[in-house]
Amino acid sequence: MRDLTPARETLDPIEIASRDEIAALQLKRLKWSLRHAYDNVPFYRKQFGAAGLHPDDIHSLADLAKFPFTVKADLRENYPFGLFAVPREQILRIHASSGTTGKPTVVGYTANDLDMWANMVARSLRASGTKPGDLLHNAYGYGLFTGGLGAHAGAEKLGCTVVPVSGGMTARQVTLIEDFRPTTIMVTPSYMLNILEEYRRQGVDPRSSSLEIGVFGAEPWTNKMRDEVESAFDIHAVDIYGLSEILGPGVANECVETKDGLHIWEDNFYPEIIDPQTGELLPDGEMGELVLTTLTKEGMPIVRYRTRDLTRLLPGTARSMRRMEKVAGRSDDMIILRGVNVFPTQIEEQVLSVEGLAPYYQIELSSDGHMDAMRVHVESLPNLADGESKAVQAATLKHRIKQIVGVSTQIIVHSPGTVERSDGKARRVVDKRPKD
Ligand code: DLL
Repeated sequence: MRDLTPARETLDPIEIASRDEIAALQLKRLKWSLRHAYDNVPFYRKQFGAAGLHPDDIHSLADLAKFPFTVKADLRENYPFGLFAVPREQILRIHASSGTTGKPTVVGYTANDLDMWANMVARSLRASGTKPGDLLHNAYGYGLFTGGLGAHAGAEKLGCTVVPVSGGMTARQVTLIEDFRPTTIMVTPSYMLNILEEYRRQGVDPRSSSLEIGVFGAEPWTNKMRDEVESAFDIHAVDIYGLSEILGPGVANECVETKDGLHIWEDNFYPEIIDPQTGELLPDGEMGELVLTTLTKEGMPIVRYRTRDLTRLLPGTARSMRRMEKVAGRSDDMIILRGVNVFPTQIEEQVLSVEGLAPYYQIELSSDGHMDAMRVHVESLPNLADGESKAVQAATLKHRIKQIVGVSTQIIVHSPGTVERSDGKARRVVDKRPKD
């Protein structure tokens, strides 16, 4: 892997500004954003009023903590366009999250919002080591999902040649990578594993591909998974974070030179960490739920959005802006098994540590009416899939999960190619427990 650290003079000056400069810009923008939301969105006028607050009550960044949260249900209740802060005619693009239940959540972007978004993805790509003129294979899904179009516009903004492949048709993904010779791929980490499998199926060495950088996000993935993908493809694997309610991809990104968590682009998004149970603000360094406030968005400003993503805030390293640790998981994905909290990422780490197991897994939860049970579906690597190897793999994984995560599981080692694959976000947990 080559050193792809971007030259300092190519960075936006604010990325390496002093903390004081960043804070001053944030306060100025926060005042504007709260005022804009209050003046133009009835929901915020009501929310602030009910809390006895007014945008003029913001005198410091810390004052934001007095303001009420916005939650996903607020977006649903204002479906479809109730949170827009500008006339609908000024909204140039709409995205929506599919949402497994109920109405989707809708987000609208003005021309300036789209421009800011493209700039944040361009900045994220630059942090990942991509340069103007690079060829970029974009396998995030195009459509209402923000991944495809969001990544696309940012890559064009940076000056890349973009191949808008979208997800799916995995054999064709490999053909296009081999023929067009991109340096960068943008895709979910779980779909990258399918592409890897297809390389092997076609008998093409993935390490010989032209790819140098993978910009992976839209779902949690562990540092162990980074090692797996980096060594399989001989690429830098960098994490990109975002969510539709706030922007889409490009809220935060790792720097290729450090890969030590994701720098939050704090000139446009103000992060806080709260205790998910009490809603109380937690100091930097403590693990909790990420809360984000938009500082510059015109179309749909959001104040203190509870992301449900669990992480911690850390000081800047390669940039002055603060980092968030790789997301451990969403609070709604946390499994409580006989009193122990478990995230799918903890299971992922153990699956990837067992020799002979492929990096594919799915967790199944069931209940016999009294006790919940967790079954982990994994599969052997093709050359290690005989009965004896499978038994050793199952016993090893079961033992490690018990020792390190602290729960008893049943492990089912399947034959190669049988665990469910995804061409977008992987479905890590299948919950078969009766709903009450
Ligand atoms: O997944 C936006 C995106 C697209 C981000 C492409 C990165 C790349 P949503 O569909 O609204 O938007 O889902 C947002 O996905 O709250 C997290 O739970 C999860 N998520 C996104 N990025 C990461 C990441 C897009 N890097 C939800 N690590 C978020 C862990 C992530 N989880």
